[in-house]
Amino acid sequence: MADTFRLRREGGIVTVTFDLPGEKVNILRAGVLDEFDKVLAALEEEADLKGVIIVSGKEANFIAGADISVIEAVTDPEEGRRLAERGQAVFGRLEALSVPVVAAVNGSCLGGGMELALACTHRVATGAGGTFFGLPETLLGILPGFGGTQRLPALVGLPESLRMITTGARVYPRKALRMGLVDEVVAGEYLLDAARRLIETGKRPRGRKKQPPADRMVSLLLESNRYGRGLILEKARKEVRRKAGEHYPAPLSAVDAVEEGLTHGRKKGLELEALLLGDLVVTPACKNLIRVFRLRERFNSVDTAPAKGLERMGVIGAGVMGGGIAALAAEEGVRVRIVDLSPTALGGALRTVGSAVGKRRSRGAISSAEVSWIPSRISYDTEMRGLGGLHIILEAVAERMDVKKTVLAAIAAAAPKNALIVSNTSSLSITEMAAEVKNPSRVAGMHFFNPVDRMPLVEVIRGGKTSEETALAVTAFARRLGKVPVVVRDRPGFLVNRLLLPFLNEGARLLEDGVPMEKIDAALESFGMPLGPFALLDMVGIDIASHAAANLREGLGERFQPSPVLTAMSDGKRYGRKSGRGFYLYNRRGEKRRDADIESFLSSHVKDRSEKPDGEIVDRLVLAMVNEAALCLEERVVDSAEAVDLGMVLGAGFPAFTGGLLRYADSRGAAEVADRLEALAAEAGSFFEPSGMIRKLADSGGGFYRE
Ligand code: NAI
Repeated sequence: MADTFRLRREGGIVTVTFDLPGEKVNILRAGVLDEFDKVLAALEEEADLKGVIIVSGKEANFIAGADISVIEAVTDPEEGRRLAERGQAVFGRLEALSVPVVAAVNGSCLGGGMELALACTHRVATGAGGTFFGLPETLLGILPGFGGTQRLPALVGLPESLRMITTGARVYPRKALRMGLVDEVVAGEYLLDAARRLIETGKRPRGRKKQPPADRMVSLLLESNRYGRGLILEKARKEVRRKAGEHYPAPLSAVDAVEEGLTHGRKKGLELEALLLGDLVVTPACKNLIRVFRLRERFNSVDTAPAKGLERMGVIGAGVMGGGIAALAAEEGVRVRIVDLSPTALGGALRTVGSAVGKRRSRGAISSAEVSWIPSRISYDTEMRGLGGLHIILEAVAERMDVKKTVLAAIAAAAPKNALIVSNTSSLSITEMAAEVKNPSRVAGMHFFNPVDRMPLVEVIRGGKTSEETALAVTAFARRLGKVPVVVRDRPGFLVNRLLLPFLNEGARLLEDGVPMEKIDAALESFGMPLGPFALLDMVGIDIASHAAANLREGLGERFQPSPVLTAMSDGKRYGRKSGRGFYLYNRRGEKRRDADIESFLSSHVKDRSEKPDGEIVDRLVLAMVNEAALCLEERVVDSAEAVDLGMVLGAGFPAFTGGLLRYADSRGAAEVADRLEALAAEAGSFFEPSGMIRKLADSGGGFYRE
């Protein structure tokens, strides 16, 4: 038997261990399905077979899914369809075995791996050890193509399965048990015993088969008739359209495949699943989503060893950011000392920790023991005391250089001499504030994004004196906290904010030119940005944005001069969501609506109404970012187009289906980008003149990516 699978026989039960040679995780790469098929053929011939257990030989992974490079390489829909059909056939054979088959899952169980588990008669999982389930295919622009769209609804019902399939959300063991995705959750050492018991008794352990919760009862009733199913499917489609939009066809296709199976039976459902997979796998959206996935993996694969020993952290300033960062660190096992002058702010931070723990618990991601351990890792004070034993101290106080300097000097006086000191500043110079610290080589920037628990990016900023060792340790620490680190140079606005500001400011300048604000927002949203510039300004806070623009103007020049529209809004205390009124009005629930007053409020800054096609509106805002990104590369703020693209997708929500800002620019071609920038320079300001790099690329016919 080929060496990916090891078979062990004991009392009529065959344990199949999946252990892909030479890899850290199991993937269903070329040839593996064929080998597995042979295993199944052997099991079919096995005399006196009572049951089969499928387990992984890897440490914290059951099966990570299909091989991404295979998906990446498919250029013909027919080929895609055949790949899906092959997987379907093998898992169909697995399902058809005449004995109980138990997937014994420890670690990540994803994509094709989860579809394999679904084709088993039972699933048991370990409660710890990083076990989780997920069907992330739609996040990569495809759908679960090995029967997942058919078997999951049959197992856990429509609403839960549609949620998993269309969002790619992970499901942790306790939740999986509640949903009926797994039959039992046990401690790691009992995994195989539990699997064996399931085969021998065919039953779940006593007391586990609970009455379904009330909401599940309602959905069961709905699912049992055609009309009810139609309602659930329509709701899912609506939700998908709202969240993903037209640029991401995969989740809607997945709903179609689910519906087909429910309406016309498994066979038809599988046929459509394979057909749709073929259609999706060749789309540019799929290829670009895979590129972004790979970028994320690449930036994530940093050596985490330099963060060893960073077990105790200080967080100075317990506001929006400090509270979020403290909660995250405590959740990841770090002891945290929080200091804030204001007891109210400290109370707020503790509430943030409490609600973060609550969220993890409701997702089933932590045990009840951890629910109390996490808050117990936090201590707090209103004075800079108790920093003596800390390894890394982060400041998240007000965004003012004088305040930062005082705080850094105080940290340096109270903390050990070799402790790392990091600032969460979003635009101020790390080099300048580090001058307050005796040994500035241990100071760096660690720029988290808001909200901390949801935004995956951290910019690690190397100040003029930051040592290599410090940069590596901070990068590794960001990884330890589950974030994706991108290292940037200490230039005003770093990367993401420097690129976002032209987007916001050009939005305001277009408004000055008489283009209606709703039209601008709508154009950018249909381009794929999560929010148009005005909705985003309202979210960020217009005072903060114009303050940041003024800061950047000092360091980078006239193009950052805040539009008078922003200044007027800020002076009029129309700050955005936080004041209930910005470009739009917000009610207490944060719902946005039109402000009938806004036109008269801004009338002295806005010219007569003018119409512009959406394409021109998009170009003005997006190409302003492209030009700025080229300048960032010239100034070596980051050292690659990859860093720009990942930073913008993860930090600014730039649409992933484009592959990122510079990938998008490449798809337009440097010559066209340069031409459009020239035209914008004539119309909207000389700072649109294409950067030297863009001109060069236009002349040479090259692109930001050389492939
Ligand atoms: P915030 O105003 O919510 O919190 C700041 C906290 O610092 C307050 O609780 C205040 O009492 C405390 N503080 C001020 N001076 C202090 C001192 N000397 N010692 C101890 N505590 C002190 O501010 P926020 O929004 O959390 O921002 C903090 C930092 O994070 C700023 O540098 C900001 O630019 C940056 N940032 C903010 C983001 C956001 O969206 N809010 C995003 C990324 C970075």
